[in-house]
Amino acid sequence: MDGALEVTAESGNLNPRDVSPHSPTLKLLRSYWQPVYASEKLPKNRPVLLNVLGQQMTLYRGESGAPYLVGPYCAHRGAKTSSGRVQGEHLECFYHGWTYNGAGQCVRQPAEPPGGEGRSKIQGWPVREYLGLVFAYLGEGEPPPMPYFETYHRDGFTQVRESHRSWSYFDQLENSVDEVHFNFVHRKSKFADVGLTAEIPELSCEETEYGILRMGRRGNNVRKSHILMPNCMYSMVFEHFKGWAEHLSWRVPIDRHTHVSFMIECIHKESDAADEFKNLRSQQREDLKKLEPADSVIARILAGELHVDDVEWRPDIVVIQDGAAMAGLDPTRDPDKDQLRSSDRQVAMLRRIWRRELEAIVEGKETKKWRIPPELRPTSGTPLDS
Ligand code: FES
Ligand SMILES: [Fe+2]
Repeated sequence: MDGALEVTAESGNLNPRDVSPHSPTLKLLRSYWQPVYASEKLPKNRPVLLNVLGQQMTLYRGESGAPYLVGPYCAHRGAKTSSGRVQGEHLECFYHGWTYNGAGQCVRQPAEPPGGEGRSKIQGWPVREYLGLVFAYLGEGEPPPMPYFETYHRDGFTQVRESHRSWSYFDQLENSVDEVHFNFVHRKSKFADVGLTAEIPELSCEETEYGILRMGRRGNNVRKSHILMPNCMYSMVFEHFKGWAEHLSWRVPIDRHTHVSFMIECIHKESDAADEFKNLRSQQREDLKKLEPADSVIARILAGELHVDDVEWRPDIVVIQDGAAMAGLDPTRDPDKDQLRSSDRQVAMLRRIWRRELEAIVEGKETKKWRIPPELRPTSGTPLDS
């Protein structure tokens, strides 16, 4: 079956950082809709080659505007489909013109007698666009329902960001869960400016129908964030020129050591204020292109050539701060031997749930069917929530 993964129970592959081809991790991630590309980057006539979730794929947008996702190689003699031409809703191979529909079925072999095309097929996966991202379902059988977030449809507009990072998606997920790191890693940041680092929060968490409800109490204020299993975080994030905004971030693995974070923010601004925000954001994107790449800054920090506290403010300062923590994690360590303490209880719960689900996959048992209530919302943990 398309997308089927044979899972093997080799030792060590219960580590969710292992995203090798037969890992239970890939099987779990692929059994949910996952973002794979930003909609605005996909024009109608330019197929792109994707490489996420252990899979190369060609994504293209048909004449109608609908996106399609098919296998990376032509069934004829193996040309890369990403170099093909979009024809209507179909993709024509650049080499000899074999043409595929959006499900990967060959519909035309122009240099052959008619009738043979029905025997040729490449893979095809379901895709949907939502809130500015292209989501794909790479799992077996029927896809689960697409996630839906009511808050994102009430007012304002959404902004999407795609960020390639040189560390494991799971380390990033653990970092998202870990509220205590704010007080150290982000000591000099927008989080400090709104009081989130003034005291170490009192932490609690519980497993829910969607994943984990995480709470960080500071005085009378409770910051609620949500882990949407398996690999999405839903929280409130602050920036000076936009205020607080709902923030969804999917951490999607490319391989063991790299991932792409897809983020969607809901900006509660209308008309002129909305235009002003969009201009500022695009200005920031231009400014970033002129700066030293974040990976290079992080490498210098880890080499001891630059201290993280001496990095001047830049739009991606939070990513650089996090990267200084995560890109430097000991690659040889066994995470099971980490010394988790009471302030790691949310990380511990995430690991426990993941292990339980991966064990179920290895043993051929049912995994929990996570369901996101559409009305789910995070809180910022500041007086603004009341
Ligand atoms: S390799 Fe694609 S048509 Fe020949
Ligand atoms: Fe962080």
